[in-house]
Amino acid sequence: MSAQIGTRKKDLLTLFDHSTEHIREILRLAAELKAKRCSNQYSKLLDNKTGVLIFEKPSLRTRISFETAIHELGGHVINLASEAVGIGTRESIEDVARNLERIVHLIVYRTFGHNKIESMARSSAIPVINALTDTHHPCQALAFGLTVAEARGDVRQNVLFAGDGNNVCNSIMVICAKLGHNFTFAGPKGYEPNGEIVKRCREIAAQNGGEINITNDLYKAAANAEVIYTDVWTSMGQEEQAQERKAIFADYQVNSALMAAASKDVLVSHCLPALRGEEITSEALDSKNSVAFEEAENRLHVQKAVIVQQFS
Ligand code: CP
Repeated sequence: MSAQIGTRKKDLLTLFDHSTEHIREILRLAAELKAKRCSNQYSKLLDNKTGVLIFEKPSLRTRISFETAIHELGGHVINLASEAVGIGTRESIEDVARNLERIVHLIVYRTFGHNKIESMARSSAIPVINALTDTHHPCQALAFGLTVAEARGDVRQNVLFAGDGNNVCNSIMVICAKLGHNFTFAGPKGYEPNGEIVKRCREIAAQNGGEINITNDLYKAAANAEVIYTDVWTSMGQEEQAQERKAIFADYQVNSALMAAASKDVLVSHCLPALRGEEITSEALDSKNSVAFEEAENRLHVQKAVIVQQFS
């Protein structure tokens, strides 16, 4: 029998799978948990429960925020060294999942192909949370949603994502579509977000009163931007392309000039880690408009809310 007895399994693989109402509820709960941190009613929710973290890529924020969230909820964390487990080499991903579900209560998984986390989720009876795949980073997007709500309330924003149409871009686009924010991607030709994901986001955005725009003209897109977001130009796993990408993306830097071209008091954020001087200048990242470090903290609160929803 699996370790997850009598509860409904709610994976978090992508925000596509979650309704606007559910996402709003996660954000509401995250704000509540943030306010009540360390003295809240959920503090022992994970008593006698264990979460496993499996990371096949480097991490600071995601690992430390999940560990802290599970610890503050009274649970125990096991960090599995992915090379020691040998997912897909020593043992199939399906068999790893079928073993873990017998012993622990939660899997937090950072991997490459999104199909790997789908296999993990399909093969286990316990909840699986996406800690980043090559296609989606839903926890980052939830932290972004909370950060924007804290700064701007429940007001539709014009969100500009500058740079690479990568996993973070995808997830920011999905949450914008779900929450009814207008989303514009501006990046070099050939590096736009995946067309199928854009199409799905456009359908969702239309239901929520928002728009999804894709352009290669950064400064035109900045004209009415109220929030500017960026991420590194070279994602984990693309290191051999770094020099080539630096040249291709050079005109898409978030800096003071771009901020001056945007709406007054534009917010600036970044999922971090940042390569200062490449996709964002220190002047922008350290400016009074920057909410990147608030968003980093909010990773803790939104992930705690996701876990609380699963186990309460
Ligand atoms: N933003 C983010 O996921 O950070 P880490 O890679 O450090 O976890």
